[in-house]
Amino acid sequence: MKSFKLFLLLLFIPGIIYSQGLSVFDLTCEHKKNPVGIDNKQPRLSWKISGTSRNLMQTAYSLRVASDPGFSGKSLVWQSGKVNSEESVLVPYSGPELKPGTRYFWQVRIWDNNGKSSGWSETASWETGLSENADWKAEWIEMQGDTNRYSPSPHFRKEFNLTKNISRAVVYITAHGFYELHLNGKKVGDQVLTPGWTTYGKRLQYQVYDVTGLLSKGVNAAGAVLGDGWYRGTLAWGNNWAVYGKRLGLLMQMKISFTDGTETMIVTDGSWKCSNDGAIRMNDIYNGETYDATRKLTGWNLGGYDDSKWEPVRTAVYNNNIVASEGALIRKIEEIKPVKVFRSPKGSLLVDMGQNMVGWIRLKVSGPKGTVVTLRHAEVLDKYGEFYTENLRAAKCQITYTLAGTGEEIYEPRFTFMGFRFVEVSGFPGELTADNITGVVVHSDMEVTGSYESSNPLLNQLQHNIKWGQKGNFVDVPTDCPQRDERLGWTGDAQAFTRTAAFNYDVAAFFTKWLKDLALDQKPGGEVPDVIPDVLNPQNAKTARPSAGWGDVAVITPWTLYQVYGDKDLLSRQYPSMKAWVEYIRANAGDSYIWKGGSKYGDWLFYHPPVNNHSEPDGHTEHDFIATAFFAYSSGLLSKAAEELGKSDDAAFYSGLYDKIKEVFNQEYVTPAGRVGTNSQTSYVLALMFDLLPEELRPKATRFLADDIRSRRNHLSTGFLGTPFLCHVLTRNGYPDLAYDLLLQETYPSWLYPVKMGATTIWERWDGQKTDSTFQDAGMNSFNHYAYGAIGDWMYRSSAGIDNGKPGYKEIVVYPYITKKLDFSRASFESPYGTISSGWERKDGKIILRVVIPPNTSARIFLPTGDLSKVNLREEATKKPQTAIPVFTHNKKENRIEASAGSGEYVFEISE
Ligand code: BGC
Repeated sequence: MKSFKLFLLLLFIPGIIYSQGLSVFDLTCEHKKNPVGIDNKQPRLSWKISGTSRNLMQTAYSLRVASDPGFSGKSLVWQSGKVNSEESVLVPYSGPELKPGTRYFWQVRIWDNNGKSSGWSETASWETGLSENADWKAEWIEMQGDTNRYSPSPHFRKEFNLTKNISRAVVYITAHGFYELHLNGKKVGDQVLTPGWTTYGKRLQYQVYDVTGLLSKGVNAAGAVLGDGWYRGTLAWGNNWAVYGKRLGLLMQMKISFTDGTETMIVTDGSWKCSNDGAIRMNDIYNGETYDATRKLTGWNLGGYDDSKWEPVRTAVYNNNIVASEGALIRKIEEIKPVKVFRSPKGSLLVDMGQNMVGWIRLKVSGPKGTVVTLRHAEVLDKYGEFYTENLRAAKCQITYTLAGTGEEIYEPRFTFMGFRFVEVSGFPGELTADNITGVVVHSDMEVTGSYESSNPLLNQLQHNIKWGQKGNFVDVPTDCPQRDERLGWTGDAQAFTRTAAFNYDVAAFFTKWLKDLALDQKPGGEVPDVIPDVLNPQNAKTARPSAGWGDVAVITPWTLYQVYGDKDLLSRQYPSMKAWVEYIRANAGDSYIWKGGSKYGDWLFYHPPVNNHSEPDGHTEHDFIATAFFAYSSGLLSKAAEELGKSDDAAFYSGLYDKIKEVFNQEYVTPAGRVGTNSQTSYVLALMFDLLPEELRPKATRFLADDIRSRRNHLSTGFLGTPFLCHVLTRNGYPDLAYDLLLQETYPSWLYPVKMGATTIWERWDGQKTDSTFQDAGMNSFNHYAYGAIGDWMYRSSAGIDNGKPGYKEIVVYPYITKKLDFSRASFESPYGTISSGWERKDGKIILRVVIPPNTSARIFLPTGDLSKVNLREEATKKPQTAIPVFTHNKKENRIEASAGSGEYVFEISE
């Protein structure tokens, strides 16, 4: 066994480097793998470098782009030549102008700091979309008279004859409402709930499908069926519907290329026919779907179908701004089987899926024609074990299926989704077993990027719940909840959860899309509506009343994403929106710099003691305090963003504004003894997290915060705004153990209380279900609300210790907080440069810290000791020949040993 003592290590200078085979992988374009339908004029390309050897850096790259995957001379579109640069993330295509509707293939090769070069990488591609609205040749088609709520789904069809051999066929399609497209009887694509949700009046996404394999020479048929979706269906409260319009419509064009080099187009136009005499009698996101299989239009999507009774369509003109799909597409991601089929005490037939999930049930059933099976969905059972739907408010979440009586029938809805764990089944013919029920989990298809695990099973369940909260609420837009009559893009929830979300999944594309909608929905005065897409204000409203901590999403989320993905274009695109938001507040706060009346929701859902408890303080934080604190925070972040973007005047102006607000904030809300605001936890958390206190008051204020937590026997009292930062503030100000006490607290209010109560997702309320199994107020009691899951960020960043030093993790900071309350804590994160992992375990009086740093980055690893002599670098544990080792220094400010390292795997052993 060989171990290096520190004094020896200090003599080493990293210089001799061992490099194994160099290669490049994971090629992406605009954050996506081989995307189809890219509108950017200069799409940006990223790649990762493979190799576990130490200190590996890229020194140069070369890109080539061709119209042919063989990269033959004449197909070459652009070659960058050898570019001396470390850049490997979001490198813009800089060749000649790209043609619309064209597939481009690309490869990259790199050189490293050992003078080695890789071969050409695997081939990746992107396909341009119809970049200008003028490229649309199709017309909108609609069904006459189809303007009623809960109308049966309209079907559209068209037959066409192809006389030549097909080399490629591509469909471009969108709809008012949901669409499902079929070609020759087969559903096109594996996406669901298309075209997704944008702020429809201002932009509508289209999708692109390669349908070459679905067409053939001879007669072909295209058929599409539409659902109400976000466009026409019920949305928000008060029985509100048809937010965007009453008429469903379809816009589709198909470009077919033949082997002889000619092309033809099939487009929606007045020649199509339609009927709503089909099986989908009703569909609505909140209320479910009614499907009568006896009315199924068999063969409607095939050639030769008798459509003589179908009606001609009406064509319509809309000034839609039709854009490529930038977000993560919604798909059926996984399937789960019931854990139990049982009768409730009162006799209801119930199914327990074992997991609060979002999507729908696939039903397998056989029985006599006309039998009606009803499925209702609920998140929880009440204290008596009965099906409980009151918290769904007006959302019916009901599926009604009428059997055709043709033997085994398999049905799943397509134009609705439900958030549920339990299903109540009525009218089922014969005996219901788990075999009849499959849970289809539906969400935006984001790549998993993170994992977190510790020695505490409850904490692991919390991580599971956070991830499932994200799955269920990332359905094209980040929603508050997926089940009741709400499911809206609540901005406060999204800002609180952005960083956690970005650990668990790659949310770059998902948020890129949503932030564009945010900017479009922002009012001329800079107000950010409460929900995006904004469906709570009239579509043409010129003003909105925003709320602090909600509207700040306009600044916080782009800044957070910039930290995670290093995407400067995103920051610069959002910059006007960020600035407009801060300017809105500035105009409202005026010369006082206190934003009076700026907070509608306060520290939403903070802890209230039970009604008869007069001894315990509640966690109330004053609203103007919150508004002013967020005003400062957003001004400070805006100034940093301006600096990153080279806008030095703005940078100076907004940092001056931040200083001014800070000064006023201290006069108004801080006592010389360090008491802050209403003395609530959130008062301290916001003041400390946003760096609003003078240096000398920080320890005093933290002490008041700690005292409050201790006086509550290690319980929190924070709401949506304070909770995400609570543990960060404690660890950064010298109270890591207290942060762990809160994290590991098992009684209400805490993160683990719901876990102990059997939660499988994050609850909206700390006490959604009380210890006696009764529920919180049904009007506001979702069991799948990710906001409090924002603690996930702390688990990754502070418990396991994976943080970024520079945007996009070009420089990585590993700074774990070790505790005796856990035996181990570890996480891994797929950064833009590759996998970062950090994990520690406590064993035999020693802490073992394992860290993996990806190539083309550097890291500052903060070891949990200030004493150099307690550190060993265990080289034998990495099982690889290593010749480059970190440089160790003593970081006085942190009183930690700091190891500066390049890429590679490191195992540190620290005596406790
Ligand atoms: C939503 C929240 C949201 C809040 C604003 C609720 O109805 O579910 O999550 O942030 O309203 O106060």
